[in-house]
Amino acid sequence: MIRIAPSILSADFARLAEEIRSVEEGGADWLHVDVMDGRFVPNITIGPPVVAAIRPVTKLPLDVHLMIADPDRYIPAFAKAGADIISVHAEACVHLHRTIHFIKEQGVKAGVVLNPHTPVETIRHVIADVDLVLLMTVNPGFGGQAFIPSVVPKIREVARLAGEQNKALDIEVDGGVNAKTAPLCAEAGANVLVAGSAIYNEADRAAAIRALREACAK
Ligand code: DX5
Ligand code: ZN
Repeated sequence: MIRIAPSILSADFARLAEEIRSVEEGGADWLHVDVMDGRFVPNITIGPPVVAAIRPVTKLPLDVHLMIADPDRYIPAFAKAGADIISVHAEACVHLHRTIHFIKEQGVKAGVVLNPHTPVETIRHVIADVDLVLLMTVNPGFGGQAFIPSVVPKIREVARLAGEQNKALDIEVDGGVNAKTAPLCAEAGANVLVAGSAIYNEADRAAAIRALREACAK
């Protein structure tokens, strides 16, 4: 089953509660929260106070994507704020295995993220420890960028690696996901689709979410 995780990065921040309700009522499965620090990526977005503020507004699981340097410093704050899943970039973690277990110690699910150029081999030895692998299909930092098709074989690689290790995990893709590119990801083995502009740039959020699902069902 495909899960749709709208990214609030493309929402109207002045009307965030309403924007979140529109995708929850529109059939979203998770809510994707993009955290950027201006160091790991060239943009700054939101921090733990915003996560805490949106927690009571929605029942959707909060899928928090940390695009920050030295994420260990902030993991407890995001867990406390109400994150259900916290994902960290392999490129930002010197001691990735330790960081993954640190996330789990906070009582939340742990994900690991790979930039488009980072080989899947990097996470072979932590696949057994994570709940989710997130493959970036754009260079992180901004919404509305074009999907990078060379990431699709990496989705297959993660699925194969998980299969070899008999490990059930979610495979998520993030960046440039729309009704055209979503089926490529789903067909390769992704089961969670993040979409920012493809959902929030449409007035009818339910129709946009449905379009992604239907594109994958074909
Ligand atoms: C990119 C973010 C994405 C982004 C996706 O750095 O991690 O979640 O918001 O936006 P779209 O779907 O517009 O590419
Ligand atoms: Zn993201």
